[in-house]
Amino acid sequence: MSLSRIVIIGAGQAGANAILELRTQGYEGSITLIGDEPHLPYERPPLSKEVILAPDSARVEILSAEKLAALQVNLITGNGATRIDPEARLIELENGDTLDYDKLLIATGGAPRRLPMLDRLEQGVYTLRNLEDARKLITVFAPEKRIVLVGGGVIGLELASSALAKGCRVTVLEQESMVMKRCAPALLGEYLVGRHRAQGIDVRLSARITRAELQGEEIHLALDDGQTLVADAVVYGIGILPNVQPATTAGLEVEGAILVDEHCQSSHPDIYAAGDVAAQRRQGLDRPLRIESWENANNQAAIFARHVLGLAPPAVRAPWFWTDQLGINIQFVGDMAAARWHLRGDLQPGTDSAFALIGVTEGIVVAGITVNQPREMRNLRRMVDNRLCFQAEQHLDLARDLRKTA
Ligand code: APR
Repeated sequence: MSLSRIVIIGAGQAGANAILELRTQGYEGSITLIGDEPHLPYERPPLSKEVILAPDSARVEILSAEKLAALQVNLITGNGATRIDPEARLIELENGDTLDYDKLLIATGGAPRRLPMLDRLEQGVYTLRNLEDARKLITVFAPEKRIVLVGGGVIGLELASSALAKGCRVTVLEQESMVMKRCAPALLGEYLVGRHRAQGIDVRLSARITRAELQGEEIHLALDDGQTLVADAVVYGIGILPNVQPATTAGLEVEGAILVDEHCQSSHPDIYAAGDVAAQRRQGLDRPLRIESWENANNQAAIFARHVLGLAPPAVRAPWFWTDQLGINIQFVGDMAAARWHLRGDLQPGTDSAFALIGVTEGIVVAGITVNQPREMRNLRRMVDNRLCFQAEQHLDLARDLRKTA
């Protein structure tokens, strides 16, 4: 089959990078990008930080209108795909229009997991996923406002930090016994709890909301320990659910996320998926892996682009992501479920330390975390990619340069 029409559903990080990779690799056919939001593709990491703290100078654009025109992309915004017919290779849009494709990439990302108990209040309750959500928080986070963040994950902690910077009185409610449990080891979680508390954020662990109600303009949250919190606004970030609807109705193999193989190809050979919406089967893993990160969206977009063009895939590297909280830059690489973590440097609870953590499983360096040491990340990455044997005397001694050991 000749390849002349590629359609991408989802104008986010994966969708935008797929375009860049297709054109970089020499594809000259048509590309249509379908987005349900009214915007050109934009970056999500700044939404919880710069967009709220410095809305006038925050830059989120990935591809400008000029760049999209230069790349000869047919852009559809504010008009999501509602149905895919894999046999007819046809897509239907919200407004009833239809489009044909030869190869299709689904990069629809995810949507916040809902908390009906809070949604029911219909006032003073927010989530954060898109640009409009972030813009609302610019005014919600006003000085002295009592802000409760539900969920001590990446979104909850980054927003706690932004709300604090805007002069709010901030509480974080995390239902687990530690923050960031999904994506970080307890040692780092403990450090972060200490830092947030030292800055005046009331972080409550193992905290569950049993009742939520509006009293005038205030939101009253009853907790399972018998206490009641009063908030002017509640923002919750309790994870995302992949946007799989068009894939499910198209009959693709979906288990919470769209199942894809190492080439990002779904159960239908003409349809691929990339980014937050995809769970990828990989050699050596016993179950499909879904990675929520900016880097993974870019990587999988590149895997898709190269596979449809018949090119070799990009090299697989250990997953990497980052978060910025309270002025601390934290970067992560590799397997956060590493069996043991070793500290390199000086971790002073509650203070502004700079240190690294090295994750080791069966004697091999499988993961690394840098806290306020972004330059060290390159070395940790190399150690993880090269599956180095862990050597405490070399790797934990600050007098020894990790560049030389990696
Ligand atoms: N009450 C309190 N905490 C809860 C509840 C609840 N009812 N339900 C879940 N949580 C907690 C989880 O234990 C977890 O610590 O919410 C946290 C959610 O953290 P993440 O899974 O990191 O999700 P979130 O912070 O919403 O981020 C969603 O956006 O920026 C990206 O990388 C981020 O991909 C991630 C996505």
